[in-house]
Amino acid sequence: MEKYSPPLAILGRTTLLFLLFFSPLSALGSFSSSSDLRILSAEKRVDLTSSIVRVYLTLKVENLGTSHASEFLLAFSPTEAEHLAIIKASSVEGKRKKKAYTLSVSSTDLVDTPNGARLFSVSLISPLKTGDTASIEVLYVLTNLLEPFPAEISQAESQLVFYRDSAILLSPYHVVEQMMYVRTPTNKIESFTRVNPTDRAGTELKYGHFHDQPPYSFSPIIIHFENNNPFAVIEELVREVEISHWGSLQMKEYYKLKHAGARHKGVFSRLEYQARPSVNGASSFKQLLAKLPPRVHSVYYRDEIGNISSSHLRTDYSQSELEIEPRYPLFGGWKATFVIGYSLPLEDFVFESPAGQHYLNLSFGCPLIETQVDSLTIKVMLPEGSKSPRAAVPFSADHHLEKTYSYLDVVGRTTVVIRKMNVVPEHNIPFQVYYNFSPVFMLAEPLMLITAYFMLFSACIAYLHTDLSLVKT
Ligand SMILES: *[C@@H]1O[C@H](CO)[C@@H](O)[C@H](O)[C@H]1NC(C)=O
Ligand SMILES: *[C@@H]1O[C@H](CO)[C@@H](O)[C@H](O)[C@H]1NC(C)=O
Repeated sequence: MEKYSPPLAILGRTTLLFLLFFSPLSALGSFSSSSDLRILSAEKRVDLTSSIVRVYLTLKVENLGTSHASEFLLAFSPTEAEHLAIIKASSVEGKRKKKAYTLSVSSTDLVDTPNGARLFSVSLISPLKTGDTASIEVLYVLTNLLEPFPAEISQAESQLVFYRDSAILLSPYHVVEQMMYVRTPTNKIESFTRVNPTDRAGTELKYGHFHDQPPYSFSPIIIHFENNNPFAVIEELVREVEISHWGSLQMKEYYKLKHAGARHKGVFSRLEYQARPSVNGASSFKQLLAKLPPRVHSVYYRDEIGNISSSHLRTDYSQSELEIEPRYPLFGGWKATFVIGYSLPLEDFVFESPAGQHYLNLSFGCPLIETQVDSLTIKVMLPEGSKSPRAAVPFSADHHLEKTYSYLDVVGRTTVVIRKMNVVPEHNIPFQVYYNFSPVFMLAEPLMLITAYFMLFSACIAYLHTDLSLVKT
């Protein structure tokens, strides 16, 4: 493999800026307060096997200062910060158990950083004493970062994408020793930047070891590789959750799906596609899998035309899987809109809190596996007569209240609307909506029906006993 030197024209403006800004070993560690810590060893693993980029860091941090350190800073390039969907961190103590990312991470407003690096702060549960070391694991997820190149491909072509990063960990601290591993989906790597040392074995690229890098060091790399995994992006998802204390949770999910990979060019031949879909449609996708809760029922899947029968539901005690298939395979740039509806047993999702409030406990995010959602809205319609609603979402999200009216509603349903941009599978964690509800309100609708019937009945009787004829006899 040759050293990769792409013509600047194809790299685009952002990269150019990037390269100008981040010349190797550019900045000097003059940034305040951070100098008390240093990273003894850093391992960075980049997973490029999907359309969503996941980066795992294992850092060993040492406190050289004279006081305790209660936070630790992570640095991101401006481009990374723009595409960042989520950051999770955990401290590793003793033997490695199941990974639970329990440390809180928050964005800082420190702006005076070299090259405009954006800093995030990880709060340590127990402050790091002078001279002590701690191991920290970080996972961060980036979306819309892989850039298809060529940007347009025909039906039979494979999709190639660019990934840009730094071979040297961008950090506000001095890094004693470090290593970076990049995993690609297949071993078809068109080209990659070589720095000294770089190594390649099958689907893995290795950068490093690098020793004694000063703070804010950076060494840009570009990897151009094959990635035919579904670039399934939900541009907009609206999930409506209707709570009925008569026993069920009605779910309705409106999807606007797009293939966000290299745009399809030329004509689409269904004949060729059907003959050999893996060759004549390598970059396209057809099926999608939705993970739904175990006791789901009354499932339907429809688009503008009507109900789609090509969906399969498999259910077991721990989960249900709904396999759906749009009416046509999706190629780059193509879109599909559809609705999935289902019902869930109320007792699995609505509980009573110790304080006597009711609360909904449901998974956030999108049920479709390995898809990103650009804009997610969850509307929780509480039963009529609910009071003091409150949403508890484990990450920053906008929320506000609305009123929704469905038939037979008199005062309308208080609806808690939660919105979040750039949602990835890592956001599929439970959230809660608390509310006060008196079961007396459950009688409102039946009473209304009875009253209505009674009035109709009375009207009929009255009608039968009234002489409405115009002709005087
Ligand atoms: C689609 O399925 C749902 C649920 O099974 C049903 O209520 C609806 O009437 C169906 N619509 C059409 C057009 O068949
Ligand atoms: C919500 O449900 C999850 C499991 O689905 C459970 O682990 C969690 O404790 C529940 N949260 C509350 C507040 O009940």
